[in-house]
Amino acid sequence: MDQPALAKSQSSILEIWGGTPLEGKVKISGAKNSALVLMAGALLCSEPCRLQNVPSLADIQGMTRILESLGVKIKQSIDTLELDPTNLTSTDAPYELVSKLRASFFAIGPLLARMGVAKVPLPGGCAIGARPVEIHVRGLKQLGAQVYIEHGVVHAYASQLKGAKIYLDYPSVGATETLMMAATLAEGETILDNAAQEPEVIDLANFCRSMGAKISGAGTKTITISGVPNLHATDYDIVPDRIEAGTFLMAGAITHSDILLESVVPEHLSAVTAKLKEVGFQLTPDANRGLRIQSKGVHTGTEIETLPYPGFPTDLQSLFMALLTLSQGSSVVTETVFENRLGHVPELVRMGADIKVKGNVAVIQGVPFLSGAPVTGTDLRATAALAVAALAANGKTSISGLQHLDRGYANFEQKLRDLGARIERVPTVEA
Ligand code: UD1
Repeated sequence: MDQPALAKSQSSILEIWGGTPLEGKVKISGAKNSALVLMAGALLCSEPCRLQNVPSLADIQGMTRILESLGVKIKQSIDTLELDPTNLTSTDAPYELVSKLRASFFAIGPLLARMGVAKVPLPGGCAIGARPVEIHVRGLKQLGAQVYIEHGVVHAYASQLKGAKIYLDYPSVGATETLMMAATLAEGETILDNAAQEPEVIDLANFCRSMGAKISGAGTKTITISGVPNLHATDYDIVPDRIEAGTFLMAGAITHSDILLESVVPEHLSAVTAKLKEVGFQLTPDANRGLRIQSKGVHTGTEIETLPYPGFPTDLQSLFMALLTLSQGSSVVTETVFENRLGHVPELVRMGADIKVKGNVAVIQGVPFLSGAPVTGTDLRATAALAVAALAANGKTSISGLQHLDRGYANFEQKLRDLGARIERVPTVEA
């Protein structure tokens, strides 16, 4: 996030007056997690690329600045990004930019594959966990790169990457994407086994294929990449954001509303819609990329365990937990993907939720109502979960920590306001 935008996010709060049912339609934006990796993927190409359906987010601005520092020429108009990576001028990603955006580590695979060298600072941990990158590094070494870490920077060299059979110890989304990008320009065939199956991995494969890469099996546990010497220009439409869609499903559910999400791929939300149905909501996909949620009155508790796709997404754990605070009966939520992703719990408790945590397990006893309170978001999805809880709480909730929210949601309060929510962004007193 640039300094003025960051200052604005840090010096404002969201005020939400709960209890108003939502109604109408909301258009879901392109996927943040896809857009970020596709932008890095454009580094593979020696011709201009165009990305469409790019969400308007602070993280996209951050990635734009990193790519510009490497020599990519970028033009942005509404939801389109034109990237011209023809003449790269640097293979060193600057620490001051990388440290602000973990996803910038994605530059390592494409830079190494195309330029034979990449120097990218370690992305470091964040509020939700340590987030190491040893699976990425081990895979790059198996592709024939020399990789070492010095003074916090990952140095990678390879005059020509060579295809290899790589087993990922864990189906890491980032490692699968890094290795897939690196392998597109490697000599020979690469097989990624135990690969991540997330829709964003499929989107990256489709994007690379639209530039001439030879990739099969994306979306399954085994991805095969046959290296090609170079990639050509493309014009590519980014997949809808399943996590933003899930967020609006929770907003509709917690307020017991009837709303329609437009521009979604309902199959990407199967684990989430299955749980919503189980606890008492009606979900109706339509033929035109729409998904309607309707309430049947009360909702019950359930058990959730976060897992790699197609399991329940960790990115929607905090949001579903917000819904479960108001369920009839008790629930158990187990976070297995990240070691520290329950930062929303104390804030939900401040709003009157009954949640007990032991290790990575939260036990939630449904309460009849939540009360508005001043709360602070600790990470992106935790902040969104507080906003969802606030929509159903009695009175006013004031949410700070908007620098997290603004990283990942395009026009968040406007979209909710268009659905009828009472929500305002206001400057803090100090600002
Ligand atoms: C991506 C998403 C993030 C989502 C996550 C899991 C992007 C930009 N971010 O993050 O929103 O929450 O997938 O769906 O796409 N791990 C290791 N070693 C490694 C790599 C990962 O131990 O080398 C661990 C991580 O610390 C974490 C788990 O594996 O505990 C999952 O991480 P991973 O799938 O890599 O998530 P990201 O790609 O970082």
